[in-house]
Amino acid sequence: IFVKPWVFIRGVPNMSVLPPEGPPEIAFAGRSNVGKSSLINALLRQKGLARTSNTPGRTQELNYFVPGGYSGALDDLPPLAIVDMPGYGYAEAPKEKVDAWTRLVFDYLRGRSTLKRVFVLIDARHGIKTNDADVLGLLDKAAVSYQIVLTKLDKIKPTAVPKLLEATAEAIRKRPAAYPQILATSSEKGAGLDELREAILTISQQ
Ligand code: GTP
Ligand code: MG
Repeated sequence: IFVKPWVFIRGVPNMSVLPPEGPPEIAFAGRSNVGKSSLINALLRQKGLARTSNTPGRTQELNYFVPGGYSGALDDLPPLAIVDMPGYGYAEAPKEKVDAWTRLVFDYLRGRSTLKRVFVLIDARHGIKTNDADVLGLLDKAAVSYQIVLTKLDKIKPTAVPKLLEATAEAIRKRPAAYPQILATSSEKGAGLDELREAILTISQQ
């Protein structure tokens, strides 16, 4: 699935226009600006597929991506959809917007039966913050499988990585829906992308 060109199929501004549940879905969640859209582009090797920006709040809808060439008919569904999510925790945007994104993110994460795993992205420089922990708590409660992906690894010293991995593993150790393996990535330098592709392939084959 990573050799095909992927295509954007739909932007979902609210839960009432979600596509019918079909292919397995994998979602990329995390605070605003953590690097969700950049990671999807790096993973699929398609610059500009998911829109990225220096300014937090770039992604404002649930954006659906699938490998190209599927008609979407019931007997011709793609094997997997990747969902790029709006970020949470961006306080600078107008309150109604922030509230709408947060509601969309939380409602989707709680109530999508075809959602196979959520990659929760955490900035390697900042670690797990309160609003990240809120999202992890929601996923634990809803029993939705999730996996932590550290981002922007190129921004920290390589010597700091083992301790960071250890601390992150410890932070999720008692969380029931957390997948124990922590992935450490850099969209910029390509670190950890093969491991992430491997994880996605495995999930799509389950
Ligand atoms: P929202 O859609 O606003 O929630 O943000 P996002 O999580 O999709 O982040 P996005 O991919 O738009 O990236 C935010 C900024 O971080 C951009 O300026 C990226 O260039 C930068 N960035 C993303 N990944 C990396 C990385 O691995 N290394 C470095 N150095 N910068 C990165
Ligand atoms: Mg984005």
